[in-house]
Amino acid sequence: MAEVIIVKSLDEAGELAAQHITSLIQKKPDAVLGLATGSTPLPVYKALHRRVQQHGVDLSRVRGFALDEYVGISPDHPQSYRTVITNEVVTPLGLNPDLVQTPRGELAGIRNAGERYDADIRAAGGIDVQILGVGTSGHIGFNEPGSSLGSRTRVTTLTEQTRIDNARFFDSIDDVPTHSITQGVGTILEARHLILLAFGERKAEVLARCVEGPVSSSIPGSAIQLHPHVTVLVDEAAASQLVHADYYRRAFSNVPEWLAES
Ligand code: GLP
Repeated sequence: MAEVIIVKSLDEAGELAAQHITSLIQKKPDAVLGLATGSTPLPVYKALHRRVQQHGVDLSRVRGFALDEYVGISPDHPQSYRTVITNEVVTPLGLNPDLVQTPRGELAGIRNAGERYDADIRAAGGIDVQILGVGTSGHIGFNEPGSSLGSRTRVTTLTEQTRIDNARFFDSIDDVPTHSITQGVGTILEARHLILLAFGERKAEVLARCVEGPVSSSIPGSAIQLHPHVTVLVDEAAASQLVHADYYRRAFSNVPEWLAES
């Protein structure tokens, strides 16, 4: 079962995730992070930034693989995930840009780009911690409903819902790409630890379906239930439709000493 932690604020969620990531990096300075975009992971990056500034945490050897990328826009487009990851993660946290990859969304070579990306992840020894948000369509990465739970990194067609959700980052909906290249659900499940975050009322229904609903390709985020090590960080609003919320609260606030991480 996923460990579900219901937090009081986005800052608390960011701190908990950052705490975990920094303790991993202390043990493994060249740890491999799976990096998500969107608004949801921003508190994690903010909390990591605080740790870099105030405690001198060194992330310069950390390696990173972005979860997904739009197809058909150039890597230096202001809304490409390459640019977003550079501006929100690589530069502020002091990561080495040469150690951070995003899937290649340019049309030239797109047919083999997914396979090459999975091979690069494998060559890096796999992803240690994959940060995830969830779309209102139930997608993780850009694995839209119907994505095979064993899917690999590949090109996907975005749903209209996802294009509408992401139109806020573009001048108009017509500018939102129609396709993406995303780590597959199967690729994501190979990461050693998944941290899925969700905030706000808007995510409540989909979050409940991911955590407590049947595992189904109709809600690709429900695939997290197949993973042995998942942490779900949610605020009260996003947790509002969880049937077992009280149980999660009890489990988190009463960790016996013999079970606590040393
Ligand atoms: C985007 C990304 C996902 C992200 C999701 C939720 O389209 N491809 O990786 O998790 O949609 O976005 P947000 O966090 O802004 O709600």
